[in-house]
Amino acid sequence: MSDDLIEAASAVRQNAHAPYSNYLVGAAVRTQSGDIFVGCNVENVAYPEGTCAEAGAIAAMCAAGQRVITEVAVIGSSDTPVPPCGGCRQKLAEFASGDVRVTMATLDGQTHVQTVADLLPGAFGRDHLDSGT
Ligand code: THU
Repeated sequence: MSDDLIEAASAVRQNAHAPYSNYLVGAAVRTQSGDIFVGCNVENVAYPEGTCAEAGAIAAMCAAGQRVITEVAVIGSSDTPVPPCGGCRQKLAEFASGDVRVTMATLDGQTHVQTVADLLPGAFGRDHLDSGT
């Protein structure tokens, strides 16, 4: 079910620009319309300017005019499946409901699946804005 998404994440990972960490990451999101958008990490010599793979995939999705994520895959070169960083968890939660599955994968085929709600319990969301003054 998530195989095509992992494959897309794995393919785009090859294009990651990660000369500082040497940690290449690929991400793919499936949208409500069934399309897949991909992104890779893009580091910068001014380190904080680097961007994560998930952010790239989300930017591509938004640029195409889409806003609803139904599934996510992330693949990195670590020994264990790569968990999205804290900032990326918040970015995913902007476009994915809590029950959306995030498959984290290694290059040798291990996978670990968690939902967006598992990854970001107690998330700050738009209801908090609505209930504010
Ligand atoms: N990285 C991602 O692209 N996504 C994550 O969720 C974890 C971290 C990237 C950022 C940086 O380029 C490299 O991995 C090492 O932190």
